[in-house]
Amino acid sequence: MAITITIANEKGGVGKTTTAVNLAAGLALRLVDEPATRSRVLLVDMDPQVHALLAIGYDKHQMSFPVSLATLLTETPPPSIQRLIQRSEYHPNLFYVPSDRAAMIRAARELPSLMANETRLLRALSAVQSEYAYIVIDTPPNTGDLLINALVAADQVIVPVETSYLGVSGLIELQRTIEQVQTHFKPDLKIMGYLPTLCEEQRSEAQEILAELQSRYKQMILPPIHKASDLAYAHSSHMDVFTYRPPRIRSADNIASSSRATREYASLIDIVLMKTGTNGRT
Ligand SMILES: Nc1ncnc2c1ncn2[C@@H]1O[C@H](COP(=O)(O)OP(=O)(O)O)[C@@H](O)[C@H]1O
Ligand SMILES: [Mg+2]
Repeated sequence: MAITITIANEKGGVGKTTTAVNLAAGLALRLVDEPATRSRVLLVDMDPQVHALLAIGYDKHQMSFPVSLATLLTETPPPSIQRLIQRSEYHPNLFYVPSDRAAMIRAARELPSLMANETRLLRALSAVQSEYAYIVIDTPPNTGDLLINALVAADQVIVPVETSYLGVSGLIELQRTIEQVQTHFKPDLKIMGYLPTLCEEQRSEAQEILAELQSRYKQMILPPIHKASDLAYAHSSHMDVFTYRPPRIRSADNIASSSRATREYASLIDIVLMKTGTNGRT
């Protein structure tokens, strides 16, 4: 059964999409030698902006999918998700559900008036749970049915937190939303951790915010991701950072290169593998 990890923070520009894309691609690289269903990773982009899909090279094919994620969320009965899923450009074991900006914006508007509006993604994904090791879900920067669907479908949540500005009230609100989801749908839903992102060592605010996060969330703080131009360039080149800055010789155990961003995201991936009990070798 797939382990579903949702990347959430109701604030925009905190590194959600960067984390979703590099987590999904890195997990695919680490699991590439596993038997089929234990090696596959599925990326689901619940943000209408489709930046996560663009970052795995999606735009080149965007025009050719008349049915997309939005149809799964709004149609009754929904189409089969199996038929929608596509393979990513760069990794043979990384897959995605095509999406469409306008259709997702319409879906977000329509969902509140539909029955089972909070559980539609969970239900769609349950049909392919057994075919994937991990499902990674990126979310939009606001509260609404798209975020709720992404949380209801999740086993674990990673919360990226930008270290130049600590939006504590936003984090508390997200925690409340997660508690609501636990109460009504998923008692086992867990916050895997808070991921400090866009860290700048030289800036004193960054150190203060890191210290504040550490005192607030203690062992739930994941190792920070520093600000790195490789991440921004990879994103604008429509690539994950492991593809953009590959090591000279790549293997499942060696996915990072001299680029610090690849090492930091590789560490996050090792922690995810460890915490979810698969350790890359189920
Ligand atoms: N660690 C980082 N270093 C440098 N740039 C980053 C880093 N993380 C994200 N970015 C850039 O910052 C912008 C916002 O990040 P993004 O992942 O899209 O945030 P969100 O999905 O939360 O809105 C993007 O342009 C992205 O390329
Ligand atoms: Mg985003």
